[in-house]
Amino acid sequence: MTSDCRLFTPLTLGGVTLANRIAVSPMCQYSAEDGSPTGWHLQHLGSLSMSGAGLLILEATAVEPEGRITPACLGLYSNANEAALAPVVALCRRWGTASLGIQLAHAGRKASAKVPWQGGGPLGSDDGAWQTVGASALPFDDNWPEPQALDDAGLAHVRDAFVAAARRAERLGFDLVELHGAHGYLLHSFVSPVSNRRNDRYGGSRENRMRFPLEVAAAVRAVWPRGKALGMRITGSGWIDGALTPVDAGVFANELHKIGFDYVCVSSGGISPQARVVVGPGYQVPFAAAVKQASDIAVQSVGMIADPRQAETILAEGRADCVALARGFLDDPRWAWHAADALGAETACPPQYQRARPKLWPGAALAYPHRN
Ligand SMILES: Cc1cc2nc3c(=O)[nH]c(=O)nc-3n(C[C@H](O)[C@H](O)[C@H](O)COP(=O)(O)O)c2cc1C
Repeated sequence: MTSDCRLFTPLTLGGVTLANRIAVSPMCQYSAEDGSPTGWHLQHLGSLSMSGAGLLILEATAVEPEGRITPACLGLYSNANEAALAPVVALCRRWGTASLGIQLAHAGRKASAKVPWQGGGPLGSDDGAWQTVGASALPFDDNWPEPQALDDAGLAHVRDAFVAAARRAERLGFDLVELHGAHGYLLHSFVSPVSNRRNDRYGGSRENRMRFPLEVAAAVRAVWPRGKALGMRITGSGWIDGALTPVDAGVFANELHKIGFDYVCVSSGGISPQARVVVGPGYQVPFAAAVKQASDIAVQSVGMIADPRQAETILAEGRADCVALARGFLDDPRWAWHAADALGAETACPPQYQRARPKLWPGAALAYPHRN
Protein backbone atom coordinates (compact mmCIF):
# COMPACT_ATOMS: atom_id res chain seq x y z
CA MET A 1 0.00 0.00 0.00
CA THR A 2 1.45 3.30 -1.01
CA SER A 3 -1.61 5.51 -0.50
CA ASP A 4 -4.06 5.95 2.35
CA CYS A 5 -7.10 5.33 0.19
CA ARG A 6 -9.88 3.20 1.68
CA LEU A 7 -10.65 1.19 -1.45
CA PHE A 8 -7.40 -0.73 -1.20
CA THR A 9 -7.42 -1.41 2.53
CA PRO A 10 -8.34 -4.94 3.64
CA LEU A 11 -11.83 -5.72 4.89
CA THR A 12 -12.70 -8.52 7.28
CA LEU A 13 -16.14 -10.07 6.85
CA GLY A 14 -16.76 -12.81 9.39
CA GLY A 15 -13.63 -14.94 9.33
CA VAL A 16 -12.46 -13.81 5.89
CA THR A 17 -10.14 -10.91 5.20
CA LEU A 18 -10.47 -9.52 1.70
CA ALA A 19 -7.37 -7.89 0.23
CA ASN A 20 -9.34 -4.80 -0.73
CA ARG A 21 -12.89 -3.43 -0.79
CA ILE A 22 -13.68 -4.15 -4.43
CA ALA A 23 -15.97 -7.03 -5.36
CA VAL A 24 -16.93 -8.42 -8.72
CA SER A 25 -20.70 -8.44 -8.39
CA PRO A 26 -22.59 -11.68 -9.16
CA MET A 27 -23.50 -11.86 -12.83
CA CYS A 28 -25.66 -14.53 -14.47
CA GLN A 29 -23.96 -15.86 -17.56
CA TYR A 30 -26.80 -18.03 -18.89
CA SER A 31 -24.18 -20.49 -20.10
CA ALA A 32 -24.70 -23.49 -17.82
CA GLU A 33 -25.96 -26.94 -18.84
CA ASP A 34 -28.33 -28.66 -16.41
CA GLY A 35 -27.07 -26.23 -13.79
CA SER A 36 -23.42 -27.15 -14.33
CA PRO A 37 -20.76 -24.65 -15.44
CA THR A 38 -19.22 -24.89 -18.90
CA GLY A 39 -16.00 -23.71 -20.53
CA TRP A 40 -17.48 -20.23 -20.58
CA HIS A 41 -17.39 -20.15 -16.78
CA LEU A 42 -13.77 -21.29 -16.76
CA GLN A 43 -12.59 -18.45 -18.92
CA HIS A 44 -14.99 -15.82 -17.51
CA LEU A 45 -14.27 -16.57 -13.85
CA GLY A 46 -10.64 -17.45 -14.42
CA SER A 47 -10.05 -14.02 -15.90
CA LEU A 48 -11.96 -12.18 -13.19
CA SER A 49 -10.22 -14.08 -10.40
CA MET A 50 -6.98 -12.33 -11.35
CA SER A 51 -8.61 -8.93 -11.82
CA GLY A 52 -7.13 -7.51 -8.62
CA ALA A 53 -10.58 -7.35 -6.99
CA GLY A 54 -10.54 -8.60 -3.41
CA LEU A 55 -13.67 -10.67 -3.94
CA LEU A 56 -15.26 -12.47 -6.87
CA ILE A 57 -18.85 -13.62 -6.34
CA LEU A 58 -20.23 -16.24 -8.70
CA GLU A 59 -23.57 -15.59 -10.35
CA ALA A 60 -27.02 -16.36 -8.91
CA THR A 61 -26.78 -20.13 -8.43
CA ALA A 62 -30.04 -21.96 -8.01
CA VAL A 63 -30.60 -24.17 -4.99
CA GLU A 64 -33.06 -26.35 -6.91
CA PRO A 65 -33.75 -26.78 -10.65
CA GLU A 66 -37.09 -24.93 -10.40
CA GLY A 67 -35.24 -22.01 -8.81
CA ARG A 68 -33.23 -21.26 -11.94
CA ILE A 69 -34.17 -18.04 -13.74
CA THR A 70 -33.57 -19.75 -17.09
CA PRO A 71 -32.68 -23.29 -18.18
CA ALA A 72 -29.12 -22.00 -18.72
CA CYS A 73 -28.60 -20.74 -15.17
CA LEU A 74 -26.03 -22.16 -12.81
CA GLY A 75 -27.22 -24.49 -10.06
CA LEU A 76 -25.79 -26.21 -7.02
CA TYR A 77 -28.46 -28.80 -6.40
CA SER A 78 -26.84 -32.02 -7.60
CA ASN A 79 -23.65 -34.02 -7.22
CA ALA A 80 -23.03 -33.37 -10.92
CA ASN A 81 -23.25 -29.59 -10.39
CA GLU A 82 -20.87 -29.81 -7.46
CA ALA A 83 -18.37 -31.95 -9.35
CA ALA A 84 -18.49 -29.62 -12.37
CA LEU A 85 -17.88 -26.54 -10.26
CA ALA A 86 -14.81 -28.01 -8.53
CA PRO A 87 -12.39 -27.42 -11.46
CA VAL A 88 -13.67 -23.84 -11.85
CA VAL A 89 -12.89 -23.15 -8.20
CA ALA A 90 -9.54 -24.92 -8.53
CA LEU A 91 -8.62 -22.81 -11.56
CA CYS A 92 -9.47 -19.56 -9.77
CA ARG A 93 -7.49 -20.66 -6.71
CA ARG A 94 -4.47 -21.81 -8.71
CA TRP A 95 -4.11 -18.76 -10.90
CA GLY A 96 -6.21 -15.99 -9.36
CA THR A 97 -5.94 -13.93 -6.20
CA ALA A 98 -9.54 -12.95 -5.36
CA SER A 99 -11.40 -14.50 -2.45
CA LEU A 100 -14.25 -16.54 -3.87
CA GLY A 101 -17.93 -16.22 -3.10
CA ILE A 102 -21.07 -17.73 -4.54
CA GLN A 103 -24.57 -16.28 -4.61
CA LEU A 104 -27.23 -18.85 -3.72
CA ALA A 105 -30.61 -18.07 -5.18
CA HIS A 106 -34.15 -19.14 -5.92
CA ALA A 107 -35.89 -17.19 -8.68
CA GLY A 108 -39.42 -17.87 -7.36
CA ARG A 109 -42.13 -16.45 -9.62
CA LYS A 110 -39.50 -15.03 -12.00
CA ALA A 111 -38.11 -18.50 -12.77
CA SER A 112 -38.79 -20.42 -15.99
CA ALA A 113 -37.72 -17.53 -18.21
CA LYS A 114 -35.90 -17.24 -21.52
CA VAL A 115 -32.30 -16.08 -21.54
CA PRO A 116 -32.01 -12.32 -22.20
CA TRP A 117 -30.59 -12.71 -25.71
CA GLN A 118 -33.62 -14.83 -26.63
CA GLY A 119 -35.88 -12.01 -25.51
CA GLY A 120 -36.29 -12.78 -21.78
CA GLY A 121 -39.85 -13.16 -20.52
CA PRO A 122 -41.53 -16.42 -19.54
CA LEU A 123 -40.79 -19.68 -21.34
CA GLY A 124 -43.69 -21.15 -23.32
CA SER A 125 -44.88 -24.70 -22.66
CA ASP A 126 -43.12 -25.78 -25.88
CA ASP A 127 -39.84 -24.32 -24.60
CA GLY A 128 -39.81 -26.46 -21.44
CA ALA A 129 -41.55 -24.08 -19.04
CA TRP A 130 -41.94 -25.36 -15.49
CA GLN A 131 -44.32 -24.59 -12.63
CA THR A 132 -42.98 -21.69 -10.58
CA VAL A 133 -43.49 -21.03 -6.86
CA GLY A 134 -43.92 -17.80 -4.93
CA ALA A 135 -45.02 -16.18 -1.71
CA SER A 136 -48.52 -15.81 -3.18
CA ALA A 137 -50.23 -16.95 -6.36
CA LEU A 138 -49.58 -13.60 -8.02
CA PRO A 139 -47.88 -13.53 -11.43
CA PHE A 140 -44.95 -11.15 -11.93
CA ASP A 141 -46.82 -9.49 -14.82
CA ASP A 142 -49.86 -10.05 -17.05
CA ASN A 143 -48.02 -12.30 -19.49
CA TRP A 144 -46.30 -14.33 -16.74
CA PRO A 145 -47.70 -17.61 -15.37
CA GLU A 146 -49.27 -17.82 -11.94
CA PRO A 147 -46.84 -19.22 -9.36
CA GLN A 148 -47.94 -21.76 -6.80
CA ALA A 149 -48.01 -20.21 -3.31
CA LEU A 150 -45.63 -22.23 -1.13
CA ASP A 151 -47.32 -24.19 1.65
CA ASP A 152 -45.53 -25.28 4.83
CA ALA A 153 -44.01 -28.34 3.17
CA GLY A 154 -42.88 -26.21 0.22
CA LEU A 155 -41.26 -23.65 2.53
CA ALA A 156 -39.38 -26.38 4.39
CA HIS A 157 -38.28 -27.87 1.07
CA VAL A 158 -36.87 -24.55 -0.19
CA ARG A 159 -35.18 -23.82 3.14
CA ASP A 160 -33.54 -27.26 3.08
CA ALA A 161 -32.44 -26.69 -0.52
CA PHE A 162 -30.62 -23.50 0.53
CA VAL A 163 -28.95 -25.42 3.36
CA ALA A 164 -27.92 -28.28 1.08
CA ALA A 165 -26.44 -25.85 -1.46
CA ALA A 166 -24.53 -24.04 1.30
CA ARG A 167 -23.05 -27.37 2.40
CA ARG A 168 -21.97 -28.03 -1.18
CA ALA A 169 -20.44 -24.54 -1.34
CA GLU A 170 -18.48 -25.32 1.81
CA ARG A 171 -17.21 -28.61 0.37
CA LEU A 172 -16.12 -26.72 -2.75
CA GLY A 173 -14.07 -24.37 -0.58
CA PHE A 174 -15.84 -21.07 -1.19
CA ASP A 175 -14.87 -18.29 1.22
CA LEU A 176 -18.23 -16.57 1.16
CA VAL A 177 -21.90 -17.30 0.54
CA GLU A 178 -24.34 -14.58 -0.40
CA LEU A 179 -28.07 -15.32 -0.34
CA HIS A 180 -30.03 -13.56 -3.05
CA GLY A 181 -32.71 -11.56 -1.30
CA ALA A 182 -33.28 -8.94 -4.00
CA HIS A 183 -34.41 -8.34 -7.60
CA GLY A 184 -37.89 -9.79 -7.12
CA TYR A 185 -36.70 -13.37 -6.63
CA LEU A 186 -38.17 -15.73 -4.06
CA LEU A 187 -36.76 -14.35 -0.79
CA HIS A 188 -37.45 -10.76 -1.83
CA SER A 189 -40.96 -11.72 -2.94
CA PHE A 190 -41.71 -12.76 0.65
CA VAL A 191 -40.45 -9.51 2.20
CA SER A 192 -42.20 -7.22 -0.29
CA PRO A 193 -45.88 -6.39 0.22
CA VAL A 194 -46.16 -6.08 -3.59
CA SER A 195 -45.78 -9.85 -4.08
CA ASN A 196 -46.74 -11.18 -0.65
CA ARG A 197 -50.48 -11.24 0.07
CA ARG A 198 -50.41 -14.17 2.47
CA ASN A 199 -52.62 -14.19 5.51
CA ASP A 200 -50.64 -16.73 7.52
CA ARG A 201 -47.60 -16.06 9.74
CA TYR A 202 -45.50 -15.37 6.60
CA GLY A 203 -47.63 -12.46 5.37
CA GLY A 204 -49.15 -9.19 6.53
CA SER A 205 -46.90 -7.28 8.92
CA ARG A 206 -43.26 -6.59 8.09
CA GLU A 207 -42.25 -8.99 10.82
CA ASN A 208 -44.31 -11.74 9.20
CA ARG A 209 -43.06 -10.97 5.68
CA MET A 210 -39.44 -11.14 6.83
CA ARG A 211 -40.04 -14.45 8.61
CA PHE A 212 -39.35 -16.93 5.79
CA PRO A 213 -36.16 -15.26 4.47
CA LEU A 214 -34.93 -15.01 8.05
CA GLU A 215 -35.69 -18.69 8.63
CA VAL A 216 -33.66 -19.52 5.53
CA ALA A 217 -30.89 -17.19 6.72
CA ALA A 218 -30.80 -18.81 10.17
CA ALA A 219 -30.76 -22.31 8.70
CA VAL A 220 -27.85 -21.43 6.42
CA ARG A 221 -26.06 -19.66 9.30
CA ALA A 222 -26.31 -22.88 11.30
CA VAL A 223 -24.32 -24.85 8.71
CA TRP A 224 -22.06 -22.20 7.15
CA PRO A 225 -18.78 -21.99 9.11
CA ARG A 226 -18.16 -18.88 11.21
CA GLY A 227 -14.64 -18.85 9.84
CA LYS A 228 -16.05 -17.91 6.44
CA ALA A 229 -18.24 -14.97 5.39
CA LEU A 230 -22.01 -14.89 5.02
CA GLY A 231 -24.18 -12.14 3.58
CA MET A 232 -27.36 -11.34 1.76
CA ARG A 233 -28.19 -9.10 -1.17
CA ILE A 234 -31.20 -7.09 -0.02
CA THR A 235 -33.55 -4.47 -1.42
CA GLY A 236 -33.06 -0.80 -0.59
CA SER A 237 -36.06 0.35 -2.61
CA GLY A 238 -38.77 -1.30 -4.70
CA TRP A 239 -39.14 1.92 -6.71
CA ILE A 240 -42.94 1.67 -6.68
CA ASP A 241 -45.66 2.72 -4.24
CA GLY A 242 -46.25 0.18 -1.52
CA ALA A 243 -42.91 -1.58 -2.06
CA LEU A 244 -39.91 -1.84 0.27
CA THR A 245 -38.14 1.31 1.46
CA PRO A 246 -34.68 2.04 2.86
CA VAL A 247 -36.26 1.91 6.35
CA ASP A 248 -37.45 -1.66 5.68
CA ALA A 249 -33.95 -2.49 4.45
CA GLY A 250 -32.42 -1.18 7.68
CA VAL A 251 -34.78 -3.29 9.79
CA PHE A 252 -34.09 -6.39 7.69
CA ALA A 253 -30.32 -5.81 7.86
CA ASN A 254 -30.51 -5.58 11.65
CA GLU A 255 -32.37 -8.89 11.83
CA LEU A 256 -29.72 -10.50 9.63
CA HIS A 257 -27.02 -9.09 11.87
CA LYS A 258 -28.72 -10.61 14.92
CA ILE A 259 -28.73 -14.00 13.17
CA GLY A 260 -24.99 -13.63 12.66
CA PHE A 261 -24.73 -12.44 9.07
CA ASP A 262 -21.55 -10.57 8.25
CA TYR A 263 -22.70 -8.17 5.55
CA VAL A 264 -25.51 -7.03 3.30
CA CYS A 265 -25.27 -5.80 -0.27
CA VAL A 266 -27.94 -3.17 -0.90
CA SER A 267 -29.51 -3.37 -4.33
CA SER A 268 -32.98 -2.34 -5.52
CA GLY A 269 -35.83 -2.93 -7.96
CA GLY A 270 -37.03 -6.07 -9.71
CA ILE A 271 -40.27 -6.66 -7.82
CA SER A 272 -42.60 -5.23 -10.46
CA PRO A 273 -42.27 -4.37 -14.14
CA GLN A 274 -44.26 -1.21 -13.35
CA ALA A 275 -41.50 0.12 -11.09
CA ARG A 276 -39.65 3.10 -12.52
CA VAL A 277 -36.03 2.87 -11.46
CA VAL A 278 -34.15 6.15 -11.67
CA VAL A 279 -30.66 5.08 -12.64
CA GLY A 280 -27.54 7.19 -12.63
CA PRO A 281 -24.03 7.07 -11.18
CA GLY A 282 -24.16 5.59 -7.68
CA TYR A 283 -27.97 5.50 -7.76
CA GLN A 284 -28.19 2.88 -5.00
CA VAL A 285 -25.59 4.45 -2.72
CA PRO A 286 -28.23 6.41 -0.71
CA PHE A 287 -29.92 3.10 0.15
CA ALA A 288 -26.63 1.59 1.29
CA ALA A 289 -25.94 4.70 3.37
CA ALA A 290 -29.39 4.47 4.98
CA VAL A 291 -28.79 0.81 5.90
CA LYS A 292 -25.37 1.65 7.26
CA GLN A 293 -26.85 4.36 9.47
CA ALA A 294 -29.59 2.07 10.73
CA SER A 295 -27.45 -0.98 11.50
CA ASP A 296 -24.05 -2.24 12.57
CA ILE A 297 -23.63 -4.79 9.81
CA ALA A 298 -21.02 -4.27 7.07
CA VAL A 299 -22.61 -2.78 3.96
CA GLN A 300 -21.69 -3.26 0.33
CA SER A 301 -22.92 -0.76 -2.26
CA VAL A 302 -23.50 -1.61 -5.91
CA GLY A 303 -24.93 0.08 -8.98
CA MET A 304 -23.22 2.29 -11.51
CA ILE A 305 -20.07 2.66 -9.49
CA ALA A 306 -17.51 2.76 -12.24
CA ASP A 307 -15.04 5.50 -11.45
CA PRO A 308 -12.26 4.79 -8.91
CA ARG A 309 -12.56 8.19 -7.25
CA GLN A 310 -16.33 7.80 -7.00
CA ALA A 311 -15.79 4.43 -5.30
CA GLU A 312 -13.20 5.90 -2.96
CA THR A 313 -15.48 8.81 -1.99
CA ILE A 314 -18.35 6.43 -1.13
CA LEU A 315 -16.08 4.62 1.31
CA ALA A 316 -14.31 7.74 2.62
CA GLU A 317 -17.68 9.35 3.42
CA GLY A 318 -18.70 6.24 5.34
CA ARG A 319 -21.66 5.48 3.09
CA ALA A 320 -20.59 1.85 2.59
CA ASP A 321 -17.80 -0.48 3.67
CA CYS A 322 -17.08 -1.90 0.24
CA VAL A 323 -18.29 -1.66 -3.34
CA ALA A 324 -19.28 -4.18 -5.98
CA LEU A 325 -19.10 -3.63 -9.72
CA ALA A 326 -20.77 -5.71 -12.39
CA ARG A 327 -20.70 -4.09 -15.83
CA GLY A 328 -17.53 -2.19 -14.97
CA PHE A 329 -15.70 -5.54 -14.77
CA LEU A 330 -17.25 -6.87 -17.98
CA ASP A 331 -16.06 -3.74 -19.74
CA ASP A 332 -12.63 -3.75 -18.10
CA PRO A 333 -11.63 -7.00 -16.39
CA ARG A 334 -8.54 -5.19 -15.12
CA TRP A 335 -10.64 -2.43 -13.47
CA ALA A 336 -8.97 -2.92 -10.09
CA TRP A 337 -5.48 -2.52 -11.58
CA HIS A 338 -6.50 0.75 -13.18
CA ALA A 339 -8.26 1.92 -10.03
CA ALA A 340 -5.07 1.24 -8.06
CA ASP A 341 -3.11 3.32 -10.58
CA ALA A 342 -5.61 6.17 -10.36
CA LEU A 343 -5.56 6.19 -6.55
CA GLY A 344 -1.84 5.62 -6.10
CA ALA A 345 -2.38 2.21 -4.52
CA GLU A 346 -1.31 -1.30 -5.41
CA THR A 347 -3.18 -4.51 -6.10
CA ALA A 348 -2.38 -8.06 -7.06
CA CYS A 349 -1.27 -8.80 -10.60
CA PRO A 350 -0.11 -12.21 -11.78
CA PRO A 351 3.60 -12.32 -12.70
CA GLN A 352 2.69 -13.43 -16.22
CA TYR A 353 1.07 -10.01 -16.85
CA GLN A 354 3.40 -7.73 -14.91
CA ARG A 355 5.03 -6.35 -18.04
CA ALA A 356 1.80 -4.45 -18.67
CA ARG A 357 1.93 -2.72 -15.26
CA PRO A 358 3.78 0.62 -15.25
CA LYS A 359 4.59 0.31 -11.55
CA LEU A 360 6.14 -3.11 -11.95
CA TRP A 361 7.81 -2.78 -15.36
CA PRO A 362 9.11 0.61 -16.43
CA GLY A 363 8.63 -0.02 -20.16
CA ALA A 364 4.88 -0.43 -19.65
CA ALA A 365 4.47 3.29 -19.06
CA LEU A 366 5.82 3.92 -22.56
CA ALA A 367 3.58 1.27 -24.08
CA TYR A 368 0.39 2.70 -22.56
CA PRO A 369 0.86 6.46 -22.30
CA HIS A 370 -2.91 7.06 -22.23
CA ARG A 371 -3.05 5.33 -18.83
CA ASN A 372 -0.46 7.61 -17.25
C1 LIG B 1 -24.82 -9.60 -17.04
C2 LIG B 1 -25.38 -9.30 -15.68
C3 LIG B 1 -25.82 -10.36 -14.88
C4 LIG B 1 -26.30 -10.11 -13.59
N1 LIG B 1 -26.61 -11.18 -12.78
C5 LIG B 1 -26.85 -10.96 -11.47
C6 LIG B 1 -26.91 -12.05 -10.55
O1 LIG B 1 -26.69 -13.21 -10.90
N2 LIG B 1 -27.21 -11.76 -9.26
C7 LIG B 1 -27.40 -10.47 -8.82
O2 LIG B 1 -27.69 -10.28 -7.63
N3 LIG B 1 -27.29 -9.44 -9.66
C8 LIG B 1 -26.99 -9.65 -10.95
N4 LIG B 1 -26.80 -8.59 -11.79
C9 LIG B 1 -26.82 -7.23 -11.22
C10 LIG B 1 -25.39 -6.81 -10.85
O3 LIG B 1 -24.81 -7.66 -9.90
C11 LIG B 1 -25.37 -5.36 -10.35
O4 LIG B 1 -26.07 -5.28 -9.13
C12 LIG B 1 -25.97 -4.37 -11.34
O5 LIG B 1 -25.57 -4.67 -12.65
C13 LIG B 1 -25.57 -2.95 -11.01
O6 LIG B 1 -24.17 -2.84 -10.97
P1 LIG B 1 -23.29 -2.22 -12.20
O7 LIG B 1 -23.86 -0.86 -12.48
O8 LIG B 1 -21.90 -2.18 -11.66
O9 LIG B 1 -23.45 -3.13 -13.36
C14 LIG B 1 -26.37 -8.80 -13.10
C15 LIG B 1 -25.96 -7.75 -13.91
C16 LIG B 1 -25.46 -7.99 -15.17
C17 LIG B 1 -24.97 -6.82 -15.99
